[in-house]
Amino acid sequence: MIIVAGSANIDLVARVDHQPAPGETLIAEGYAVHDGGKGANQAVAAARMGSRVRFVGAVGADDFGARIRTTLEAEQIDTSALSTLGGASGIAMISVDSAGENCIIVVPGANEKLGVIEDAETVFGGARVVLTQLETPPAFVNAALMAGRLYGAETMLNAAPAASLSPYALDALDWLIVNAAEAALIGEVAVPADVTAARALAADLAATYAVGVVITLGADGATWQARDETAEDAGGHVAGAAAEVVDTTGAGDTFAGVFAWARSQDKSIREAVRWAVAAGGLSVGRAGARSGMPGFTQLAEAVGD
Ligand code: RIB
Ligand code: NA
Repeated sequence: MIIVAGSANIDLVARVDHQPAPGETLIAEGYAVHDGGKGANQAVAAARMGSRVRFVGAVGADDFGARIRTTLEAEQIDTSALSTLGGASGIAMISVDSAGENCIIVVPGANEKLGVIEDAETVFGGARVVLTQLETPPAFVNAALMAGRLYGAETMLNAAPAASLSPYALDALDWLIVNAAEAALIGEVAVPADVTAARALAADLAATYAVGVVITLGADGATWQARDETAEDAGGHVAGAAAEVVDTTGAGDTFAGVFAWARSQDKSIREAVRWAVAAGGLSVGRAGARSGMPGFTQLAEAVGD
């Protein structure tokens, strides 16, 4: 069982030619409502690989909350630990430009009310992997990681949106998954300019925080450094494949969810990164965070397995 603890949102997406500057009023070229939220997206990416996934999170007592729950259940995700709380569900206001790049404003709603997790043994017992992000309060993130560690799971944090790390989270963490900007913020260094610099930064962060580190690099694939330097394939890089970019929203979530799934299948680190890079590459070809996320058969074909 893979447990994903995190946010669920409804994404309100405007398609624009370019991102607006301060004070600018822009007329959008189109509008769509998509299912989103980093936590829920990552749960869906893992579930589409065919594994049992439980999502731990919260929705509001509104129509969006009902939609979020129904959509997750349609993906065969276990929602027994998804609470319905009073107030609004989380939403994200997103603009996607002609290059497929996005700007996102998250209004957390119910996600912000998540905290200490009651009955951790029922929720986390038997988990193979626990994956979380930074779109929910630190108390919730830390509780998920600590419960994962307590019940013997491999623990993963996708430190997005970018923020520095709490010692509580680090103490219970096996894998830190970040993009280049998030890695730079955590390492308090400049954003790595190329793959070599990213590779060095992954090694630095792994040594400093005693965790495994994966840095995603968009079209350039991903680089990693395991915590144990003597492990087979302790560090490396997997190149990206050329992809048609429609909308990069959710690419990082696809990567994290598929990486979690691959590790739950006992794939090596290199293999897990290879599957995750291929999945991220496929995800950017469709609009919205989830429509481009592959199923198992499509992804297996893409990685050539
Ligand atoms: O990572 C993409 C997600 O970030 C979107 O689905 C949006 O909801 C925000 O949470
Ligand atoms: Na997409």
